[in-house]
Amino acid sequence: MCKTRFKILSIVLSFVLLFGTLFVPTSAIAPGDVNYDGKINSRDSLLLRQFVAGFDRHVAKSADLNNDGKINAADVLWLRLKIAKHDISAYTEEIDASFPKGWRRGVNMGNMLEAESEGAGGYRLEDEYLKVIAEAGFDFVRVPVRFSAYIDSSGNIDETFLQRMDHVLNACIDNHLGVIFNIHHFDALMEDPQTNKELFLKMWEQLASRYQHMPDSVVFELLNEPSRNLDVDQWNALQKECIALIRKTNPTRDLIVTGTNYSNAGNLPLIELPENDKHLIVTFHYYEPFNFTHQGASWTSGTSDLSGITWNNTKEERDQIDWTFQNIKAWSEETGIPVLLGEFGAYGLVADMESRVRWTTCVRETAEKYDFAWSYWEFCSGFGFYDTQTKTFNPIYNALVPQKGEN
Ligand code: GLC
Repeated sequence: MCKTRFKILSIVLSFVLLFGTLFVPTSAIAPGDVNYDGKINSRDSLLLRQFVAGFDRHVAKSADLNNDGKINAADVLWLRLKIAKHDISAYTEEIDASFPKGWRRGVNMGNMLEAESEGAGGYRLEDEYLKVIAEAGFDFVRVPVRFSAYIDSSGNIDETFLQRMDHVLNACIDNHLGVIFNIHHFDALMEDPQTNKELFLKMWEQLASRYQHMPDSVVFELLNEPSRNLDVDQWNALQKECIALIRKTNPTRDLIVTGTNYSNAGNLPLIELPENDKHLIVTFHYYEPFNFTHQGASWTSGTSDLSGITWNNTKEERDQIDWTFQNIKAWSEETGIPVLLGEFGAYGLVADMESRVRWTTCVRETAEKYDFAWSYWEFCSGFGFYDTQTKTFNPIYNALVPQKGEN
């Protein structure tokens, strides 16, 4: 009797196994195999990030990695950890505090729309660049914009320029790139915050209203590098006022906020933010050692005559970066606010390429180690990695997007 039962059971089992291999049911797709090609790798990660960012993408049910019935940013992090072979079980629901969009790699469209006027820095933001960037493996671009060059005395932004902005944002969306845009180089605000803060708020009122219906993949960054006379107290007050203003039209859009002293890492703990706003991301900029990254630079003080400074990837040099980033990570875990390393880069006029590649690799790897999204300064100008004439990449690109392996 027992034997017959065993026989029946083994026949049933063989059938299950046979059909199982012939018709893989959806539930059998391994968690994380988002494109159901039998592998779990960076392709799945890209697809999932695009899906979560609101792009029209088809993903398998297996994209719900944490099995909570939703496919969202938490799954992006789970997948990233899985690919990096971290122990996923160590993470809990708290992972929502990770970078919300699952964005990792970005690039600054520097010297374009933040120049005196577009083109004055040598480049216009051409749509074809966005295609190159998307195909090169980046998730998003940061677009610095000198809006203050396009306002009247009451702060009304020129309509023709806004139409240019509409085009740029739509071109990012068309190329499946996330986009952060900011108010960059508002020098008058840095010089005289009291007189100019109304203009700053007026600009955001218009921008927030105009772009309130843009998809979530469009992110607002309030101000580039608050500095000079815009001190900690004034900036904390103004930043909060600006967030409240934007929230009237954009209750859930991700906003990038920052600290003073040029978005210096050390000033992060001084930032005061509204409580209970779950859609804030904090940014810092990293250019240390400054004499290395800015040697030859004419626009920063004491750097134009510097040259021949190398970065050799010594333990001491690496530890310096790690220490700073580790502190930021601690702050981020304490506050639950995710981090974007919004700018980092080494100027190429006189610095040797080998050092620049070593430094860029180390900063990028350290950011990823602590789960910071990053955007390199910049695409094709003085710090850049792309030659728009020859349409070729220099070795900095490989430091940013490793060509071998799946990381
Ligand atoms: C800041 C400045 C930008 C400069 C960059 C590197 O973002 O606003 O103009 O090129 O840092 O120095």
